[in-house]
Amino acid sequence: MALINESFFSAEGLEKRLAGKKFWKTMMTEYWIPKDINFLWALGVVLAVTFSILIISGIFLVMYYKPDTNLAFDSVNYTIMQEVAFGWLFRHMHGVAASVIFLIIYIHMFTGIYYGSYKKGREMIWISGMLLFVTFSAGGFSGYMLPWGQMSYWAAAVITNLFAGGSLEAWGLVEWIRGGFSVNDATLTRFFMLHVFLLPLVIIMVIVFHFYTLRIPHVNNQVADDIDYDAEAEKYLAGNKKESKVIPFWPVFLSKDFAVLGVFFIFYFYLVFFNYNFAMDPVNFDPADGLKTPAHIYPEWYFLWSYEILRPFSKDLGLIAFAIAQVIFLALPFLDRSPNVAPASRRGLFKYWFWAMLIYVIVVTFMGKLPPTDALFANIGLIAAVMFFVLWIALPIITSKEKKL
Ligand code: HEM
Repeated sequence: MALINESFFSAEGLEKRLAGKKFWKTMMTEYWIPKDINFLWALGVVLAVTFSILIISGIFLVMYYKPDTNLAFDSVNYTIMQEVAFGWLFRHMHGVAASVIFLIIYIHMFTGIYYGSYKKGREMIWISGMLLFVTFSAGGFSGYMLPWGQMSYWAAAVITNLFAGGSLEAWGLVEWIRGGFSVNDATLTRFFMLHVFLLPLVIIMVIVFHFYTLRIPHVNNQVADDIDYDAEAEKYLAGNKKESKVIPFWPVFLSKDFAVLGVFFIFYFYLVFFNYNFAMDPVNFDPADGLKTPAHIYPEWYFLWSYEILRPFSKDLGLIAFAIAQVIFLALPFLDRSPNVAPASRRGLFKYWFWAMLIYVIVVTFMGKLPPTDALFANIGLIAAVMFFVLWIALPIITSKEKKL
């Protein structure tokens, strides 16, 4: 290493040691984004900001929350909601952000599917995104347990019980996960650890990786144009900004993101102040009681489309179907065999596949909330599950026959 002669306490000295300006240039002012994008490309930044809200509000909540089956319910419903100054605000902000982040994640995912942003060099972006989906799902599930209300307890009992299916029973997996024969104090403390420590840590690392995977292939654009970034960046830097197809991440792209973020905040704070119940289950305002099963147990809305797939099957098959549904989107870049990177509207049968999958997820989410007592609905659940798997089996077949654009 060449010795650095500049003083540690000078701007040049710091630059020599940390190369901050170079870093800023690589990551911000000369990180090129296509011009031809719409508001849907702002959702990644909306997600990053919503995650920051979850962390900040979570820090305040954890100061008063008590991970103990005798104290947890009161620490949330009395201490935080009634005694701590603005405790209610942090709880509402946390609960609403946790629910809304899934809505945005789903829109962000389906945007990627629609524009083919998972293909030809962008596979790593997709895979890291799916890792975020899985870790966020674990975060949502572990957080739902913490208030120790009726639905916290029973949803945890039902979901952990999935691991008691068939041969898994013999391995004692469910007891190992719960730390006992039923959901109990040890279950609560380990889910608490996962929720406030391990999962946020993993999520932060995966978000950094997700951003990093974007750096080389760059984000896609509305027409999936394969841009020559070096040539377009040169035009921009030479002052030919109008003709160039790209803009710098900072300040141009981010200023547009901030505009979308503003609209998002209106929606988000409307929910926080006036409609927070949408993120809370009424049954969860009753303390957990292991002897009183609620009439209808369901998870948070964002799990319903995959929960519904599990319902029509017996325990073993249900578990396998549920597990496949949770991770099948990971395989999308490899199951889509078409050479085309283009918006779905221009891609033959894939166009119908896209809309069928989107409608499927929305319809099944609404149906998942209904009690399974009605025979008609139980059958529709089975049809929906079969349809889901047929769509995935059809994907490589229809895309391999797609004409090259
Ligand atoms: C909280 C979690 C996430 C954060 C903070 C995040 C953040 C971002 C950001 C900032 C971008 C670039 C701008 C944009 O296109 O919006 C992006 C792009 C992308 N993300 Fe995510 N993302 C998250 C979750 C996901 C998930 C769950 C998926 C789906 C598997 C995903 C897939 C993608 C894809 C494919 C792109 C590239 C879009 C393109 O090239 O046009 N992300 N993400």
